[in-house]
Amino acid sequence: MDLYEALEGRRSIRRYTGDPVPDEALPKLLNAARIAPSWSNKQCWSFIVVRDQSRKEKLAASMPADNPCRRAIAEAPVVIVLCADPEASGRPDGKEYYLLDAGLAMQQLMLAAHAEGLGSCWVAWFDEAAAREACRVPEPYRVVALTPLGVPARTPLPRPRKKIEEIVFSEEWGSA
Ligand SMILES: Cc1cc2nc3c(=O)[nH]c(=O)nc-3n(C[C@H](O)[C@H](O)[C@H](O)COP(=O)(O)O)c2cc1C
Repeated sequence: MDLYEALEGRRSIRRYTGDPVPDEALPKLLNAARIAPSWSNKQCWSFIVVRDQSRKEKLAASMPADNPCRRAIAEAPVVIVLCADPEASGRPDGKEYYLLDAGLAMQQLMLAAHAEGLGSCWVAWFDEAAAREACRVPEPYRVVALTPLGVPARTPLPRPRKKIEEIVFSEEWGSA
């Protein structure tokens, strides 16, 4: 799949068929995450592949009842738990680069998932302590995000985005 096609076609997928994630797809997705850029190439991330139903249900239970992706975390065949060590990345000017590093890696995984015909959805609204407990994630790692992975039951329409003119300036802030 062409990169621009992948960028345009990716959606947050919150409903999945019962079909499994093909065995050959998962290593490709994890490799796409592995080769992401990171601050000083520190690669502060770790990924937990969860297939066990009771563990997926614990992760779903770590999410508020009105999180729209809660059901998908329990129902998708695979959940990826994104962890990162803040101390293993940089903090220049107080900017927590571990969040950038981890986010880039996860987005690469998600785009690769889309290229493989699989759906994913960023989930960052959950109780970290409960998710940590569910997967026995040690300190100082932070549980940054989760994503379900599976075959999309349907592809939602694109969500609206701001116009280019609203978010891009020329030379100076505010200049069109
Ligand atoms: C950092 C981050 C956290 C998110 N957390 C959640 C979440 O907890 N639950 C959820 O259903 N969607 C979550 N989303 C998905 C967004 O709602 C979604 O990306 C946005 O509405 C745009 O839709 P699209 O991904 O289909 O283009 C999150 C997205 C990002 C980038």
